[in-house]
Amino acid sequence: MPKFKGKSIVSLKDMEKKEILHLMKKAEEVKSGKLTQVLKGKVIASLFFEPSTRTRLSFESAVLGQGGSVFGFADPGASSAKKGETLSDTIKNVMGYCDAIVMRHFIEGAARRASEISSVPVVNGGDGANQHPTQTFLDLFTMLEKKGSLDGKVIGMMGDLKYGRTIHSLAMALTHFDVKLHFISPKELNIPDHYYDYLKAKKIEYVHSTLESCGKELDFLYCTRIQKERFYDPMEYEKVAGSYKIDKTSLEYLKPDTFIMHPLPRVDEIAVDVDDDPRAVYFEQAHNGVPVRAALLGLVTGTI
Ligand code: CP
Repeated sequence: MPKFKGKSIVSLKDMEKKEILHLMKKAEEVKSGKLTQVLKGKVIASLFFEPSTRTRLSFESAVLGQGGSVFGFADPGASSAKKGETLSDTIKNVMGYCDAIVMRHFIEGAARRASEISSVPVVNGGDGANQHPTQTFLDLFTMLEKKGSLDGKVIGMMGDLKYGRTIHSLAMALTHFDVKLHFISPKELNIPDHYYDYLKAKKIEYVHSTLESCGKELDFLYCTRIQKERFYDPMEYEKVAGSYKIDKTSLEYLKPDTFIMHPLPRVDEIAVDVDDDPRAVYFEQAHNGVPVRAALLGLVTGTI
């Protein structure tokens, strides 16, 4: 059985397939009610240096729903970071108050740095444009719920593949399975080169496509928002803003059983009237954040 107790969850690079599958199993047990009170007596710190709705609130719901306690901040302006305290000093203090730290930070590598300092596990809730591992776990959980397995599946990744950390983590995770990837994005938003290198090293087939050309092949279409906040030059954002959209017309390019996923929040890349289509599973996907994050915290704190 994989050993999770005390492990920080920073990047998909650090995750073995057997660990991912074990987490999926435990998350299913939490979701079905077979496992309950998995965080009883545990205290979790929730440090969000960047805005969040789903990640922070689903972590908090997971902790409270499983008998644990959670404290922290949603706005670094309400913490001593505002007075100039370093991340290192913040972690050295907070680790003395809790059993695990969930942290989102705008700097790539901040979660890795925190994990090197902390005496308790650090769970990366997103670090800049780098990684978002817990989003990936709930994405995989949703995919497995919908299709039963990932081997042999074809996944379209659409939108901001350059700055989208959910794309980066998911692409790395999918290398553990026999999948084919279609990248659907304006060329300015292609996935960074080192991810191509990673996919090649893992012998994962990928191709650049349009939705029209690959839609009938897809088991999942994973759409993302353009990460406006990550652009250095506003003019660069203007060039790509509104360059793709899933609407009722584009649904015709998909198979009757192509599931449409999105990490959310969306801006305008999925029309609201798509929400009623039975293939649109992004809200269900977001709700899976609760059992998946509960199971992950149970594993890293050693309760399950
Ligand atoms: N998917 C996701 O990370 O959403 P939030 O930014 O609202 O946490």
